[in-house]
Amino acid sequence: MLNIAVFVSGGGTNLQALLDAQQAGQICGGQIVAVMASKPGVYALERAAKHGIAAEVVRKAEYADTAQYAQAMLQFLHRHQIGLIVLAGFLSIVPEEVIRAYPNKIINIHPSLIPSFCGPGFYGLRVHQAVLDAGVKVTGATVHFVNEVVDGGAILFQKAVSVEEDDTPETLQRRVMEQAEWKLLPLAVSKFCEGKIQVEGRRTRILP
Ligand code: GAR
Repeated sequence: MLNIAVFVSGGGTNLQALLDAQQAGQICGGQIVAVMASKPGVYALERAAKHGIAAEVVRKAEYADTAQYAQAMLQFLHRHQIGLIVLAGFLSIVPEEVIRAYPNKIINIHPSLIPSFCGPGFYGLRVHQAVLDAGVKVTGATVHFVNEVVDGGAILFQKAVSVEEDDTPETLQRRVMEQAEWKLLPLAVSKFCEGKIQVEGRRTRILP
């Protein structure tokens, strides 16, 4: 069994989707053992507590520099013997030291079809606002590996979602979550834990 840590910053609906999938026996070969939040008071922490999952806050502002922040994260990961890190609405930058320690072992969910509407400054509702401003008719979600480039790692799964004429950022966010994010993330986590993802440069192959 691979130990999974989920990193969160907000409401945690993607964390909930993972917990529900785990309860339904849909995460094969892995178990969520720890949750790390970038700030206190977020609802995702309550979701973790309700499921009896160990949760901790590691807040960048509390450390003198990025190296010490990275050390705190690495200690958390080693303590729980983590083999897969899932960024589920984690809105802080993961330090390079942590990324180097977990190559192709960190996955992120992003609420657009990468390489559109991604990179620095594109997070949460801002992504959906940018999609509406651009007037595109299709958006979606992407699950990808995390590397040193923001939203730049190899892509694992993508799903397209329609943009409707009367959408607000909030209605579009909800549709992207319901139709894409909450399905893709548990699927990607399960495939990873089953050892069914092969990486060949920028391309990935998902084994049946
Ligand atoms: C989700 O839509 C996720 O894709 C997005 O933040 C939201 C978190 O919601 N992540 C990013 O924008 C990362 N660039 P949640 O806390 O309810 O899972």
